[in-house]
Amino acid sequence: MWATNAKIVGIVLGTLALYTLIANKIPQVQSEVPQALTLGANVTPEQLVAAGEKVYTGIGGCTTCHGLGERAPNLLTDEKGQGTIGARCGKREPGKTCKQYLYESLDNPTAYVVSGYQPIMPVMTKQLSPAQVWSVIAFLESQGGTVDVTASDIPTTSPASPTSPTSPGGGGGAGGAAFAGGSTDPKAIIQAAGCLACHKLDGQGQVIAPDLTHVGSRRDAESIRRKILDPASSVTKGYEKLAGIMPKSFGTMMSAAQLEALVQYLAAHK
Ligand code: HEC
Ligand code: HEC
Repeated sequence: MWATNAKIVGIVLGTLALYTLIANKIPQVQSEVPQALTLGANVTPEQLVAAGEKVYTGIGGCTTCHGLGERAPNLLTDEKGQGTIGARCGKREPGKTCKQYLYESLDNPTAYVVSGYQPIMPVMTKQLSPAQVWSVIAFLESQGGTVDVTASDIPTTSPASPTSPTSPGGGGGAGGAAFAGGSTDPKAIIQAAGCLACHKLDGQGQVIAPDLTHVGSRRDAESIRRKILDPASSVTKGYEKLAGIMPKSFGTMMSAAQLEALVQYLAAHK
């Protein structure tokens, strides 16, 4: 029921957002979508910033890398004399506004890699909802810059993922309704979760974290499940320096059925 209502609201808001986008893209055409403006007035910048701070310190897992000094750039404090993130975000890439740069940092982190750092930042738009992404952008802008995120930035329907073969009607568990479109195909789950941004599996993905191709020969299903739900529960030998970078949010993103499909799939990788 909740999911159905959310979907209807999502479609309505998504349509409004699209119209706003079109209206903004074509300057000659006057925006005739007062509903979208009402929407924009609904969420205040203060509310967005407050929500974004919670994402930043909580579910977003940003603080496992940011704010510790060496692993990732400081965002809330000065970074190498360039100021806080809100003050420097508009100067990173020529032609990109602060808002565009911050969105890119979360959606395609390797497009611009801050010099002196490794490209280990996960694709956050895969792990967080659009509302969470945009509120965290508002929060970052508030750190020394101007908050110009509004409700019209937030598309409430996520674009259909080409990697999720099942219909979204399947739904997920609590908090995971939209995750991987509700699919229980382990490959779609891995894709949606962004595991391969760090891990290699069957020859695909990155080498920052342990290769999972034969993980089933080292860990049983129980151990793999525990590692995904609580990454701090154990640290792989030889990877002590990277302890803490595996996101802790998977357990709340996936439904129980999705988690189980993923665990069994990995455990079968002997
Ligand atoms: C696994 C570690 C890790 C996590 C988790 C992480 N980041 Fe990052 N992030 C990095 C690294 C390393 C860089 C610098 C290299 C690069 O640009 O990709 C970076 C760069 C950035 C930048 C650009 C900074 C600049 O000075 O231009 C922003 C903005 C950012 N991250 C925001 C976030 C937010 C918001 C979150 C949480 C939703 C987050 N990051 C989570 C590692 C991480
Ligand atoms: C931001 C990088 C990152 C992402 C994304 C990530 N992991 Fe990890 N993972 C690591 C690192 C680093 C380690 C090794 C250090 C440790 O044990 O914490 C690890 C360890 C593991 C291990 C233990 C491997 C072994 O050989 O003992 C498993 C299993 C695992 N991850 C599964 C996953 C799955 C499944 C996903 C996606 C749902 C995922 N990880 C996403 C970074 C990541």
